[in-house]
Amino acid sequence: MSNYHIKHLEEYFQVYRKSVNNPENYWEEIAEEHFLWRKRWDKVLSWDFEKPEIKWFEGAKLNITENCIDRHLTTKGEKTAIIFEPNNPEEEAQHISYNELHKRVCQFANVLKSEGIEKGDRVCIYLPMIPDLAIALLACARIGAIHSVVFAGFSSMALATRINDSDCKMVITSDGSYRGEKTMDLKGIVDEALKTCPGVKTVLVAKRIHSEIEMTDGRDKWLQPLLDKAYQSCYMEIVDAEDPLFILYTSGSTGKPKGMVHTAAGYMVYTAFTFKNIFQYKENDIFWCTADIGWITGHSYIIYGPLANGATTVMFEGIPSYPDFGRFWEIVEKHKVNQFYTAPTVIRALAKQNLNFVEKYDLSSLKILGSVGEPINEEAWHWYNDNIGKSKSPIVDTWWQTETGGILISPIPFSTPTKPTYATLPLPGIQPVLLDDAGTEITGIQVNGNLCIKFPWPSIARTIWGDHQRFRDIYFSTFKDKYFTGDGAFRDEVGYYRITGRVDDVIIVSGHNLGTAPIEDAINEHPAVAESAIVGFPHEIKGNALYGFVILKEFGETRIHDNLRKEINQIITEHIGPIAKLDKIQFTSGLPKTRSGKIMRRILRNIACKDTTDMGDTSTLLNPEVVQEIMDNAL
Ligand code: PRX
Repeated sequence: MSNYHIKHLEEYFQVYRKSVNNPENYWEEIAEEHFLWRKRWDKVLSWDFEKPEIKWFEGAKLNITENCIDRHLTTKGEKTAIIFEPNNPEEEAQHISYNELHKRVCQFANVLKSEGIEKGDRVCIYLPMIPDLAIALLACARIGAIHSVVFAGFSSMALATRINDSDCKMVITSDGSYRGEKTMDLKGIVDEALKTCPGVKTVLVAKRIHSEIEMTDGRDKWLQPLLDKAYQSCYMEIVDAEDPLFILYTSGSTGKPKGMVHTAAGYMVYTAFTFKNIFQYKENDIFWCTADIGWITGHSYIIYGPLANGATTVMFEGIPSYPDFGRFWEIVEKHKVNQFYTAPTVIRALAKQNLNFVEKYDLSSLKILGSVGEPINEEAWHWYNDNIGKSKSPIVDTWWQTETGGILISPIPFSTPTKPTYATLPLPGIQPVLLDDAGTEITGIQVNGNLCIKFPWPSIARTIWGDHQRFRDIYFSTFKDKYFTGDGAFRDEVGYYRITGRVDDVIIVSGHNLGTAPIEDAINEHPAVAESAIVGFPHEIKGNALYGFVILKEFGETRIHDNLRKEINQIITEHIGPIAKLDKIQFTSGLPKTRSGKIMRRILRNIACKDTTDMGDTSTLLNPEVVQEIMDNAL
C-alpha cells in the first residue's frame, strides 16, 4: 500500500488510522520516498503547542525548487509545467515547459542575487497573474530569500503596511495589470506605498501593459533587460527544513495584518501530498486552480503542490466575466482541463447567468471539481455538480486556511462519498476536535463546536512574522494544547464535518478573509465619524456582505448621508482595497455595548441579517434603548 496515493475509502481508513497512530512514521515514509533531500533529518517532529513551537524534519537540508523543477528535468523536461492563459482570449496562451521554467527561474534568481538579495532577505511581490509572478516566487525560493506576495488588489496603504512589517528590501511589480476591459496602475500604487517604506532599495518592474510609468532613478529597474543578461543556470541555496519559505499576510481581529510564516520542508511535503490525493492527479492531467497567487490557495495549489508533483498547472490572468460569462468554460475546453478548483462565490456568480454560457463548451475533460474559501451552499453545490460536473465529477469541498498551508478536511475523490455542504473527513494525519466554549471536547455525532486541531501537521504555520506572542495568543491560548481555527463546525452521524462559519470577528466576503477591526479603523479615520462597527450579512453571490453601523460626531441632515457613505467607502478602498467596501451603512446615535464597553456584535449581526426574533437579553446592556432605534432604522 502506498501511503502517498490513496485510491479507495478502505485504503483511506487504513491510512488514516496508521497516520494518527504514528504520525512521525507516517510522514517520514512519505518524505523519504517522494522528495529529494540534500541531507536527511535528525528528527521527524518536535512540538509544543504551549510555546508554541513546531518543527518538522529538523536537521534536513533541501531546496524546494530542486523538488519542484530540477528533479523533473531528466524525465519530463519538455512537459508543460505552466500554461499561461492571458486576460485577452485573442492573445496566445503560453506553454512553459519544465526546461523553460528552470531556465527562467535561474535567470530571475541570478537577477535577485545581482541586486543584492541574499538568503533570508524578504522580497515583496506585487504582480498580476502573469508568468513572472510564478517565476519570482520560485526564484526567491531558489536562493533562500523569503517571498511575501501581496495580492495586487490591495491599496497602497495596505501594501506599505505589509512591506514595512517584514522589512522587505525589494519590491517586484509590473507597469500595470489587465482586469477584463480595465487596466490597473500597479506601479503607481507601489510608488505611493514606497513613500513610507524607507527599507526598499530596489523595485523590479515587469512590462505587461506597456503604459507610460515613472521610473525612479537608482531604485526602479526594468526586469526584462536584467533577465536577458542573466546566466541561465543558478546554484541553489540549500536551506534548513525549518528555514522560512514565505510570509503571507492574512487579516486578523486587530488592525495589523498577520504575516503567517511557512517553512520549507513541511510545507513542501504537505502541499505535494494533498495535491496528489485530493485532485487525484495523474500524469498528463491539466490542473486549473482559479485563485490568485496573492492568496494561499494560489501558493499551494497553483505553484508548489502541482510543481512538486511534476504536474501541468494553469495560470489565468483574467476574470470569469470577460469577454463574457463563458470564459472559464471556454478555457476548460481549450486546455482540456481535468481538475478545476474554484470558489463558491464564483460558482454563485456564474450560476446566475444563462446556461448557454456553459452549454456552448465541451467540458468532458473534467474529472474532479473543487471548492474552497467559504462554505458552499447547497444550491451552488448542485448547480456545480449538475451543470459543470454533469454528475460524474466528484466535488471536493476543501476546508483549510492561510495558517494551515494546505487542505486539512476534504473528500478524497472516488473514495469518500461526497455530501453537499460538507467538507467531509480529515486528511491523513489531521486530528480535528470540536470543543465547547469552556474548552471541553464534544465527542459523539450530530454536534456543533469550535473546530480545533490537536496534533501538528507538516504545513502548519510556525509563527507570525515578528510577533510570536500574537501567534500564541490567537491560535494556541483560547484552548489549551489545541490549534484553534476560528471556525465553528458540525459533525454529522457518520463523522463528516461541515464548516458553519467563523466564530470570531473575521468575515468571509467573496472568499476573502476580512477582519472587522482594520475596516473599522479605516472608517474611524473619517473626520465626521466617531465610532463604527462592522458585521456580515448573507449575500446571494458574495456569501457575506458587509454592513457598517456608524456613529457620526454630529448626526447632521440625512441628505449629506449619501455623500458620507461614498466617502467612507472611499477611505476603505484607500486603506485596504475595494474588496472591503461596505454594502450597507447605517448611521446611528449609538452602538449596543456591554457594561465593560464591548460592542455586542451579535445584536448588530441579528439586525443586519433581519433576524430579530431572538435578540437575547438586552437589558444588561449599557444602553439598551439604542437597540430599538437601530432596529427601526435598519437598511
Ligand atoms: O472560515 C474558513 C473559510 O476560510 C477561512 C480561511 O480563509 P483564508 O485563510 O483566506 O484561506 C482561504 C483559502 C484556504 C477558514 O477559516 N473556508 C475555507 N475553506 C472553506 C471555508 N469555509 C467553509 N468551507 C470551506 N471549504
